[in-house]
Amino acid sequence: MILVFVGPPGSGKGTQAKKLSASKGWPQLSTGDMLRAAISAKSTLGVKAKGFMDRGELVPDQLVIDLISERIDQPDCQKGFILDGFPRTIPQAEALDRVLHSKNKKVDQVIAFSMLDQELVRRLSGRRVCTVCGSMYHLEFGPTPGASCPANPARECQLEQRSDDYPDVIEKRLKVYHSQTEPLVSYYKTQHKLESVNAAHSPDQVEADVQTILKKK
Ligand code: AP5
Repeated sequence: MILVFVGPPGSGKGTQAKKLSASKGWPQLSTGDMLRAAISAKSTLGVKAKGFMDRGELVPDQLVIDLISERIDQPDCQKGFILDGFPRTIPQAEALDRVLHSKNKKVDQVIAFSMLDQELVRRLSGRRVCTVCGSMYHLEFGPTPGASCPANPARECQLEQRSDDYPDVIEKRLKVYHSQTEPLVSYYKTQHKLESVNAAHSPDQVEADVQTILKKK
């Protein structure tokens, strides 16, 4: 199964991709996570990507197309994978179709996460991520961190706010989503691959809705 999650920032794509990856064993391929890892490692890609990400803009298409093309050749992707945050533009979607076609593969299902912008601002500004184990929390909606960090039980999780989760950058990311990424909804609708979930529901309800869509495949 090759599954694509499309949705605005903060709609819960990452949360649901992690749950599904744990239940189905398909790796979660998050271009956002890969780019943040490249920034932490101070790699050439990270240096190129950082400015775009800090400003809430998209990283140039070819950088992320190369990143994903390389990743999907890895052995753990051979039985399927979840694309979380890629593609994000029509040229990225077309490149993905070409790359998969050359391997006799295709996108099997696209799930669009829909939600109002004002709720997304609350989701993003309250998000906190542990810099040690990578777990994601939310100040208002939970989950809240336990007494010890899963990666270092002797300490609590070390919480940080993502540099792009501040109000002016959130506003820019939402604008970029509507202008550059939302057209993918029509792109995949035309290919009869699109189903939507109401991303404003609870994480458990969204998870159940995703599972219902996948059972129909
Ligand atoms: P990326 O990291 O992909 O960010 P994003 O798409 O903006 O999405 P987020 O990670 O912010 O949100 P999410 O939908 O995963 O929600 P989450 O589950 O975390 O990209 C960052 C940047 O990298 C981009 O701006 C761009 O610069 C660059 N980039 C990445 N991919 C690119 C590409 N393909 N092309 C070009 N540039 C690219 O949830 C958010 C919060 O809400 C969490 O705290 C969570 O706990 C909480 N939450 C989740 N679900 C629920 C729920 N149902 N109810 C209540 N709270 C919930």
